[in-house]
Amino acid sequence: MMALPLRTWVIPVTVVTLTLAALAYAGIGLDEDRIREYIRLTSGSSVLLFALAWSASSLNTLLPESRWRPVLRARRRIGIAFAISHTFHLIGIIALYEIARGGDWGDFEFLPGAAIYAVIYAMAFTSNDASVRLLGRNWKRLHTVGGLILWGAFTVSYIGKISEYGFAQHYLFSALCVALVVVRIMAWRKR
Ligand code: HEM
Repeated sequence: MMALPLRTWVIPVTVVTLTLAALAYAGIGLDEDRIREYIRLTSGSSVLLFALAWSASSLNTLLPESRWRPVLRARRRIGIAFAISHTFHLIGIIALYEIARGGDWGDFEFLPGAAIYAVIYAMAFTSNDASVRLLGRNWKRLHTVGGLILWGAFTVSYIGKISEYGFAQHYLFSALCVALVVVRIMAWRKR
């Protein structure tokens, strides 16, 4: 039996998994701790999808016999799945303020998060051939600078959470962020 290629299932699996998780949390009860757990879950799914998309080309260069090629072929859809996953992060954030905190948005910092979401959606909506043609060299600029901004956001968030909470995922995903840069530098030197 032929396995379904990654590019076929990465978006539906992301949507279904994060929707089911949201429904499961809603079933348990939407208090602040539960909603924060869900927000953390969605940042985990987001960083994994981002890591796959952001390293696909580099790993394809570094690994023998292009074993990473299916991931490279699926890269745009993985990027869109990342944007979807981070939309669930946003839904979690809205639920945190609207449901758990009764609509009190007093301590909400709008600007940095909104700017990064703008980058995420700009990248997701231009992940297609028509946009590549239309934007020309600006497409590459957007996706290069955007990727670095997202990498920075994850790195700062996870490394920052080590001293705040120090959960296993904070160490693991901080290490993943560092590894991503190492992989990209190694591939850049090999090309
Ligand atoms: C409007 C913007 C955003 C808000 C208000 C927000 C809010 C939150 C909240 C409330 C948490 C849970 C904190 C906790 O209970 O420990 C969280 C976790 C996190 N967020 Fe966001 N977030 C935003 C955007 C982003 C963006 C754009 C990224 C990355 C690209 C990101 C990455 C993370 C990470 C890495 C965590 C840590 C997860 C963990 O502790 O395992 N967030 N965020």
